[in-house]
Amino acid sequence: MADAKLIDGKAFAMGLRERVAAGVADLVGKGGPKPGLATVLVGADPASQVYVRSKGKLAVELGMASFDRKLPAETTEQELLAVIAELNADPAINGILVQLPLPKHIDTAKVLLAIDPAKDVDGFHPINVGRLGSIAPGAVLDFPVPCTPLGVTMLLQDALGSLAGCNAVVVGRSNLVGRPVAQLLLRLDCTVTITHSRTRDLPALCRQADILVVAIGKTEFVRGDWIKPGAAVIDVGINRIPTTEGKSRLVGDVAFAEAQKVAGHLTPVPGGVGPMTVACLMYNTLQAARRVAGLPYVAV
Ligand code: GUN
Repeated sequence: MADAKLIDGKAFAMGLRERVAAGVADLVGKGGPKPGLATVLVGADPASQVYVRSKGKLAVELGMASFDRKLPAETTEQELLAVIAELNADPAINGILVQLPLPKHIDTAKVLLAIDPAKDVDGFHPINVGRLGSIAPGAVLDFPVPCTPLGVTMLLQDALGSLAGCNAVVVGRSNLVGRPVAQLLLRLDCTVTITHSRTRDLPALCRQADILVVAIGKTEFVRGDWIKPGAAVIDVGINRIPTTEGKSRLVGDVAFAEAQKVAGHLTPVPGGVGPMTVACLMYNTLQAARRVAGLPYVAV
């Protein structure tokens, strides 16, 4: 059997970024608002700093306004809630992203609840979680949905066309990826199974999957013999492991070399799902600005 066709998430994300930039220019050209994205970072975690900086930079590249709020690690919950209230009230801001994880002394659920659902470009507010959880099959996504899951389904639709009737198995039940990706796949008429650390005979369930989405956060957890020949495998994992030369490299949650011999389609790590997350954040910010202007949803 031929090796799996690699899904080039980087190339797809570049195309999406271009379409978002064109959408921004179109909106502004029609007298609409210049989309504005606010990022909020509490503390100085190096990885989070890199992520937040790249989000702000990309927003500007695509013609949006970027507002970065960096707060010290000691910021109290009350102080953070006051910043969010300020961003909620600012008409120049269409999207608010509070970088997670937050320091332990802050109640994340309370903070996410405080974000205006219309500006919740992460799709983490309970209102938006509820909207996704009750969406009709095929209905328009006219509210923000979590970025990584949205990117996963965009890549799958691009690679496979219609997903209707596919058996989709999701490995991992996080609020960030597993649960929302399952909801999006259900909306696209897949038969969805969500699996997790307590699932019995996980390899056997995975072998039934036409679509296997893996977001468990464990290096090379899914092996080649867990995969149905010809399946589409989406690896959401980003694990940094040391190399023998004393450096480090990124690997996914799927044993890539093994999977490549069995799968029909496969995302690499890096260069698969990763670049889609930030591109979808820009997409959500554009859509939020269009809604403020009273414009209908457009797929870009
Ligand atoms: N931390 C890791 N992933 C994410 C994400 O998608 N959004 C936010 N806000 N924080 C994150």
